[in-house]
Amino acid sequence: MEYTVKSGSPEKQRIGCVVAAVYASRKLSPSAKILDDVSGGVISNLVRRGELEGDIGQTLLLHNVENTLCDRVLLVGCGKEKDLSTPNFRKINQAMVKRLQASGATEIASYLTEAPVKRRDITWKIGQSIEAIDECLYHFNQLKSDQKPPRRPLRKFIFSVSGRGQLTDGEVAVRNSMAISTGINLSKDLSNLPGNICTPSYLAKQASVLQEQYLNIKTTVLEENEMEKLGMGALLAVSRGSREAGKLIAVEYMAGDKDQAPIVLVGKGVTFDSGGISLKPGAGMDEMKYDMCGAASVLGTIAACAELQLPMNIVAIVPTVENMPGGIAIKPGDIVTSMSGTTIEILNTDAEGRLILCDALTYAAKYEPDVVIDVATLTGACIVALGEHPAGLLGNHSPLINDLLSAGQKSGDRCWELPLWDDYDEQLKSNFADIANIGGKGAGTITAACFLSRFTKKYHWAHLDIAGVAWKSGHHKGATGRPVSLLMQYILDRFEGTQSAM
Ligand code: BES
Ligand code: MN
Ligand code: ZN
Repeated sequence: MEYTVKSGSPEKQRIGCVVAAVYASRKLSPSAKILDDVSGGVISNLVRRGELEGDIGQTLLLHNVENTLCDRVLLVGCGKEKDLSTPNFRKINQAMVKRLQASGATEIASYLTEAPVKRRDITWKIGQSIEAIDECLYHFNQLKSDQKPPRRPLRKFIFSVSGRGQLTDGEVAVRNSMAISTGINLSKDLSNLPGNICTPSYLAKQASVLQEQYLNIKTTVLEENEMEKLGMGALLAVSRGSREAGKLIAVEYMAGDKDQAPIVLVGKGVTFDSGGISLKPGAGMDEMKYDMCGAASVLGTIAACAELQLPMNIVAIVPTVENMPGGIAIKPGDIVTSMSGTTIEILNTDAEGRLILCDALTYAAKYEPDVVIDVATLTGACIVALGEHPAGLLGNHSPLINDLLSAGQKSGDRCWELPLWDDYDEQLKSNFADIANIGGKGAGTITAACFLSRFTKKYHWAHLDIAGVAWKSGHHKGATGRPVSLLMQYILDRFEGTQSAM
């Protein structure tokens, strides 16, 4: 998709379709008003007759509106003018795309950017529009035999800005959001691929492709024998049960100052989680191909950073394995030694994510990181606690937590903090080893994070449990690409922070 910004009056756009807002109680937006005036009241007449109330997501497509240069005018209901929320701004953009896809228009000028959203500027509105549009246009059909593209695909969106002064801001927003979309789509593609294709070796290969594709990226892949030498007994314990070899992937994007400590992102890459000997129930088990969404999101994020050539240092670490039962698989009660030396009693082989993450988190210290953020579909309990709206957030450094909370608010890809109190840590006591890998009844998301926190003492760390947000189940099953948007907002905010400090 091609995106641009432009200032100019709606009736003068020589284009397939002009999109304008109508607010609740049939109130016309400024651009709808202009189109109405030049056409001798066409819009106000239709609205008076009840063709469009202006409720969120309602649409009305008009052809040949007099005294305009466009082929069509699409009116989109935006709800109460003073009450447009950030999620609803995305909704109106999606309603726009759905209606346009059913029309013959290919080039669009959107004036929805003039709809007021509290505390949000034009940069934000253009960014959210692009993310919403690209979300509608994403389809995973690479494994279907019939891959016919739509008859007349949308080709170009022009976003209206109110004057020349907003052009540069708008262009920056377009550039950033297109890079973010690239990252989101990469993340969705990797996630939607099935476990028989997207194996640990496949992830390693795709991570190596990033090095070919982008400047300033270096990818290294540690094989099982190298992990053995480093003492990664916890990661290797999970990998044992599978025919697929486990890997530890490190993608280093180093475009910042040499002495700038990197932001390290660690993504859980279980390419299929059967539960192992603590086997999961059969219903819905196919969805455990999504147990590598954390990995996909950190790879997508680093691709977006490289696309923008941000002058920063970012590292993505992906511990990746397949969790399977088998004759040499780990068993409940087995005790293993992690890279940190901490011994772990594996009471449930289905709590495998923390086992691979703990060794990756220990490994991360070698980068002397500024912060470490791990991203993982870690616990079903997180879905019980928070549902599918925010990711769970825990960590050991409140400024980092606050930065992530506000990046979530701003991007719309939200997270919510849970308490990482010592009280919960007691639940991980083991009779036979330093620590158990499950915390028993209650607060499963928190005890999982307590487990990880044992391995993150050397740096500032936050953990995102994305079990509820990484994919949608049911009829529209598919990966969401979350939290690429959140991570990119965090990184861009950090980048702006360094700019204004200079
Ligand atoms: N990958 C799962 C978590 C999960 C479950 C994510 C369902 C999304 C949907 C993780 O490896 C797991 O199995 N966790 C267990 C932990 C338990 C054994 C302490 C869980 O949540 O049941
Ligand atoms: Mn599991
Ligand atoms: Zn898992």
